[in-house]
Amino acid sequence: MKTISILSALCFIILSCTQSKNSDTDEQGVSSSKTRSINAVKDFEIEPFEDSEEGRLAEYGQSLINETYKYFYEEDGEKIGNHLACKSCHLDGGTKPFAAPYVGLTSVFPTYIGREDKIESLEERVNGCFERSMNGKAIPEDGKEMKAIIAYMAHLSKDVATEERIEGQGMGDFEPPMRKANLEAGQLVYKEKCQSCHMEDGHGLKLPNEESYIYPPLWGPDSYNDGAGMSRILTAAKFIKRNMPLGTTYDNPQLTDKETFDVAAYINSFDRPEKANKELDYPDLSKKPKDTHYPPYDDDISQEQHKYGPFNF
Ligand code: HEC
Ligand code: HEC
Repeated sequence: MKTISILSALCFIILSCTQSKNSDTDEQGVSSSKTRSINAVKDFEIEPFEDSEEGRLAEYGQSLINETYKYFYEEDGEKIGNHLACKSCHLDGGTKPFAAPYVGLTSVFPTYIGREDKIESLEERVNGCFERSMNGKAIPEDGKEMKAIIAYMAHLSKDVATEERIEGQGMGDFEPPMRKANLEAGQLVYKEKCQSCHMEDGHGLKLPNEESYIYPPLWGPDSYNDGAGMSRILTAAKFIKRNMPLGTTYDNPQLTDKETFDVAAYINSFDRPEKANKELDYPDLSKKPKDTHYPPYDDDISQEQHKYGPFNF
């Protein structure tokens, strides 16, 4: 990192001395130099992988993110996890703004995670999604697959100079209406805006003889489990608002906040695999997000209200 900043400082000095003094000089100077410095996820493009061991490892990591089910679905003939891929939610291989992209994460982690009430490594956070979003098992932290996933994330993060979170990471804001979610209204939104891809039964669409989904399931036995972030309706709403129907970009949401809220509740009103030991999540209950739909709680609000709102507490 230091070498990069010294290099870009040098380029900057050389370019600003050689170019005419207009106000655009700085920006032009820096962008025409070989190093890029990224401070937002917007318009991110994946650079070619280096022809080196690390580059090949990162490339393998990319395939694990995009075709996760292929590598992890079975273990010793035993069925573990679902047929989603990391990119089912971390869209565009983890590069789409406000779809929890991976860009910049290697410098953000280790960071505090409320669900476990501790500082977590990136490996531990990845395993959180393996156990919940993928309804599977944690993978060995020092194994080749984990190393490849981290190498891929490092590849996406290499031009991010800061250790702070950058614009476009995470899921973006969502202000829920101050009422309980309306499942009938959510069903109507679902029929109009989601069903053509995710299917009426919410179980998604696969081609015959194919393992992977064209359109992934939103509920049912092959979906994320009930301990996953996506099973909380405010998290699901944040994701849906900026990303669904497919093709939606963060700056041009297709649904109103009310529609988003109701459809997020609708898809999460159905059965899905159950995560064991959820009562151990959020050891410090004051850190438990309002929309966590499973107890215990440190307040007197009903489980029903924690699940569907209103979130006026
Ligand atoms: C069903 C959707 C879903 C799938 C599939 C999924 N994740 Fe996630 N992931 C999430 C959500 C939701 C979050 C939380 C985002 C937030 O809090 O803003 C998250 C967060 C993360 C984070 C932390 C992001 C941050 O900004 O701190 C990492 C790293 C991550 N996931 C990796 C993975 C990996 C690797 C896989 C595949 C093995 C995977 N995820 C599969 C939904 C999913
Ligand atoms: C044009 C097809 C299409 C429409 C319409 C659509 N989606 Fe999706 N959705 C997808 C695809 C494809 C993915 C996975 C992206 C990938 O794998 O690259 C996805 C992923 C998702 C995910 C995360 C992955 C999972 O399986 O849980 C959620 C949640 C979701 N969509 C909800 C919705 C909702 C709610 C609507 C309606 C408002 C909607 N989608 C409309 C195609 C669509």
